[in-house]
Amino acid sequence: MSTQNDTAVDVHELDAKVQQMYTDVAQHPDETFHFETGRQLAERLGYPRGLLDAVPQDALDSFAGVGWFFDLAELQPGERVVDFGSGSGTDTFAAGSLVGPTGRVRGVDYTEAQWAKATRLAQESGTSQVHFLQGRIEQTPFDDASADCVISNGVINLIVDKQAVFSEAARLLRPGGRLAIADIVTEQQLTEAIVSNTDLWASCIGGAAQHEDYRSMIERAGLEVRQMRANDYGFLSDQAQGATATYGVRSMSVLAVKPGQTP
Ligand SMILES: C[S@@+](CC[C@H](N)C(=O)[O-])C[C@H]1O[C@@H](n2cnc3c(N)ncnc32)[C@H](O)[C@@H]1O
Repeated sequence: MSTQNDTAVDVHELDAKVQQMYTDVAQHPDETFHFETGRQLAERLGYPRGLLDAVPQDALDSFAGVGWFFDLAELQPGERVVDFGSGSGTDTFAAGSLVGPTGRVRGVDYTEAQWAKATRLAQESGTSQVHFLQGRIEQTPFDDASADCVISNGVINLIVDKQAVFSEAARLLRPGGRLAIADIVTEQQLTEAIVSNTDLWASCIGGAAQHEDYRSMIERAGLEVRQMRANDYGFLSDQAQGATATYGVRSMSVLAVKPGQTP
C-alpha cells in the first residue's frame, strides 16, 4: 500500500474510486449518492437564486458542493479566479458571472467526465471568461501570483496531501489575494479504520481533517485565516450519518488571505 502524509490509505485506489464516483455525478446526477446534489442543495446552502440562474442547468444538476463561501470571496469585476476541483462547473460559472467579461475563471478537475462536461457547457454557453483544465490541483500549470482568488467546494477533504493543495493556492495568489472555500472537517481525529476506507474517502468523510489541523495547514502555507464558520450541511446515508455523529464530521467555510499589499 502506498501512503502519503502518514495516511493509511491506498492513494491509487483512492484516486480510482474518487474519479469513478464523480464520473457518476457528472453523467448520472439523478443517482443516489451518500451526499445531496443539485440546485435544491445549492439553494439550501445559501446560493442566491439569481446567481444560480447564471449557471447552465446541466452543471447545476451535478453540483456536489458542501457550503456557501462567495460572500467571503467578495469577487469583483475583472478579477482572476481559480476553482480547485471544479466538477461540472457550478462555482466556476457562478464566479464567471461575478467577475464579468473582463475577468477570468479557470476550473481545474482531474476527473475526465467532469472536465469534459464543464468544457462542453462553457462552449455552449459562450461564456468567454470561463475555462476548464483537466489536472490535479496539488500542482497546476498557472503562474505564481496569477490569481486574485482561489475558490474550492467539497474537494480538499478528498486529497491525501492537503498541505500541497494549500501551498499551491498560496503560490497562485497575489499578495492580498484570497482563498475562499467550503470543505468537510471533523471535531475529532478519525480512526485508522475510517481513514483507510477508500469508499468513505470518496464520499467526503474518510479524508476529513480535524479542524485545527486544517487551519494549521492553511497557515503553514503562508496564508492568514480570517474566518472559519460552520455550514448547514448533512450527509444522506446511514453510514455517513453515523460517522458524522461519532466524530463531529461537518462542513465549514473558510476565508484566508495572502499577506502583503496588492501590487
Ligand atoms: C465533491 S466534488 C465537488 C465538485 C464541485 N466543486 C462542486 O461543488 O460541484 C469533488 C471534485 O473534486 C475533484 N478532485 C478530487 N481530487 C482532485 C485532485 N487531486 N485534483 C483535481 N480534482 C480533484 C473530483 O474529481 C470531483 O469533481
